[in-house]
Amino acid sequence: MARKLAAGNWKMNGTAASLAEIESLAQAHPNPGCDVLICPPATLLSRLAGATSGSSIKAGGQDCHTAASGAHTGDIAADMIADAGGSHVIVGHSERRADHGETDADISAKAEAVWRAGLTAVICVGETLAEREAGETIAIVAGQLAGSIPEGATGENTVIAYEPVWAIGTGKVPTLEEIGAVHADIRARLKARFAAAGDDMSILYGGSVKPTNADEIFGVADVDGALVGGASLKAEDFGGIIAALERA
Ligand code: 13P
Repeated sequence: MARKLAAGNWKMNGTAASLAEIESLAQAHPNPGCDVLICPPATLLSRLAGATSGSSIKAGGQDCHTAASGAHTGDIAADMIADAGGSHVIVGHSERRADHGETDADISAKAEAVWRAGLTAVICVGETLAEREAGETIAIVAGQLAGSIPEGATGENTVIAYEPVWAIGTGKVPTLEEIGAVHADIRARLKARFAAAGDDMSILYGGSVKPTNADEIFGVADVDGALVGGASLKAEDFGGIIAALERA
């Protein structure tokens, strides 16, 4: 069975002052009835991990390098994320694919680096608006899954996040039927490739998830949680999403 996970991706937002949001989230949800993960900018990871240490809220990174160490100015290794108190690393977010030209092969190598550090990779996939309008959503996502997930994925070391690019930060969300169709297809492909482990991998939906639409999204089959951007920055909003996942 896949675990339920509410994951927050702060992207390039947050300074020390933002830790107050985490403290109030940890106070309001000290023992949530689902897994909760916050991926702040790397500058805050260690402090955020410290601020959540008395709760079951986990901390994670937003990206990592494929190598364990070396001459890669500005990059961060998965071991460093582990050392800072992280348990997960997001890899292949569409903003990394677009802004940094990351390919499926790059993302697969990053996921392997995450595993070598003993952490869980949150591997992101999702179509652009043009791809959706061309009727290519399932094919695009299938290709990204095939290329971005290394051999050896399990429910322990891998989480999949389906994030339609056009739904990120736009307030636009696919219909529940559209979300369900993609998640069912992802589940079928995970099972076909990884057998029983394919049932154990959590599949998150991401893109304009808010406390107001979380209940209906979490009611869709094979949606095991969410990867949340903007609404993860405020304890009240993210707390509402956690509460919805606890109810699901
Ligand atoms: P929003 O929740 O702001 O749409 O962002 C989603 C996302 O990209 C999370 O990784």
